[in-house]
Amino acid sequence: MASPVGDIGLIGLAVMGQNLILNMNDKGFTVVCYNRTVAKVDNFLANEAKGTKIQGAHSIEELVSKLKRPRKIILLVQAGPAVDSFISQLEPHLEKGDIIIDGGNSHYPDSIRRTKELESKGLLFVGSGVSGGEEGARHGPSLMPGGSPAAWPAIKEIFQATAAQVNGEPCCDWVGETGAGHYVKMVHNGIEYGDMQLIAEAYDILKRGLGLHEDEIATIFERWNKGVLDSFLIELTANVLKFKDDDGEPLVTKILDQAGQKGTGKWTAINALDAGMPVTLIGEAVFARCLSALKEERIRASKVIAGPQKEAFRGDKKQFIDDLEQALYASKIISYTQGFMLMRQTAKDLGWNLNYAGIARMWRGGCIIKSVFLGDITAAYTKTPALESLLFDDFFNKAVHKAQPGWRRIIAQAVLWGIPTPAFSTALAFFDGYRAEVVPANLLQAQRDYFGAHTFRVMPGKENERLVAGKDIHINWTGRGGNVSASTYVA
Ligand code: 6PG
Repeated sequence: MASPVGDIGLIGLAVMGQNLILNMNDKGFTVVCYNRTVAKVDNFLANEAKGTKIQGAHSIEELVSKLKRPRKIILLVQAGPAVDSFISQLEPHLEKGDIIIDGGNSHYPDSIRRTKELESKGLLFVGSGVSGGEEGARHGPSLMPGGSPAAWPAIKEIFQATAAQVNGEPCCDWVGETGAGHYVKMVHNGIEYGDMQLIAEAYDILKRGLGLHEDEIATIFERWNKGVLDSFLIELTANVLKFKDDDGEPLVTKILDQAGQKGTGKWTAINALDAGMPVTLIGEAVFARCLSALKEERIRASKVIAGPQKEAFRGDKKQFIDDLEQALYASKIISYTQGFMLMRQTAKDLGWNLNYAGIARMWRGGCIIKSVFLGDITAAYTKTPALESLLFDDFFNKAVHKAQPGWRRIIAQAVLWGIPTPAFSTALAFFDGYRAEVVPANLLQAQRDYFGAHTFRVMPGKENERLVAGKDIHINWTGRGGNVSASTYVA
């Protein structure tokens, strides 16, 4: 039998799979493909893959037999049971050191489990985030691999060559242990939800607040795309707004205002709650999609609940639009600050060694949130790898201070108009909370102790005989309760 020629195998010939194969082929690698419905393999070879080095396989066994060792097989199938099913089909044909790579949007706990299971059998596992949609897969996605560290040297060349390149640097690096790759992809998606919601709120303010037409709004987004907001999502928004239906109306105005979601944003928000990290902007972005989904109920509410009297804008429109740009920028800084805080906490909780500059570099190109802004984040974490928060970085600290007055004016105006800005507003609330030396949690603690003897601690400098530093204190507030406290102090 001829010696194997395949550099890498790929299972799953849906749109992402096909495009990734063509991309890897362009970069000089020989890819062997397989699909559960094998007719798709022949169809792909006879059409899109015609004239390339791409090879097909009609069974898992044939696929494995065509691969060089250590064998590397990427799964691009639906996240969930399909991944486990293909892993168990592959296992009997693989040998020690072979690598299974899951490139779907898998939930990171599954990747943690799969890494452990495969490593216990002498195999290696990589859970890789793949972002950038069809276009990214074909011409250079952002790739976020994590899992068995021993797999990285074997896949590095293929992955880095296939990924998008920014200033000659690949948007792909080793993310970290076990589920770290899929974890970082999940946070990417959460941030994607946040960016999209912020843009949608800016659109709403420009349309319903200032009364601008989609064409005018598109021009504003095009201008913003040349400044600090320069990003794929701003660019595509301008294109969407300009796109006309056959009757000349902007198509976007005919799209039902009910947002779908596949769950990765929700996973990020749930993870933030579990980790105790105030990732409020992604949370609001997920809830805004939930609220949008209540279309019928909103229609009924709109008939019986009135907002403020709409007043025409009498201020300086140009200034207002500049303020809005700054509000969007500042809110975006907060969202990424929160996203990186979450990653830091999870890395600490799970013992991962995450490289934050590397993560920002992976997101600079290829993915949905790609932007110039991520270059600035890369710089911040390169300068200070252990940066506690982006707001402590000089560049972002100055940027957020500069944006602050406009950001406040926009939210104040939106509140007066009755236009909801959950993402802008929560970003500002976080900012004001984060920069506050004192927050009213003293009252919360008093309330908890009053009704449930949950105890509190004394503020430094306020100690006295009964308020002893470092001690869990219970006060008999009413004179009726006992002196027994409910539980220990958990901050
Ligand atoms: C990407 C995207 C992608 C995601 C979709 C859908 O990075 O290419 O994040 O992975 O699946 O954008 O997300 P929702 O359906 O949840 O909006």
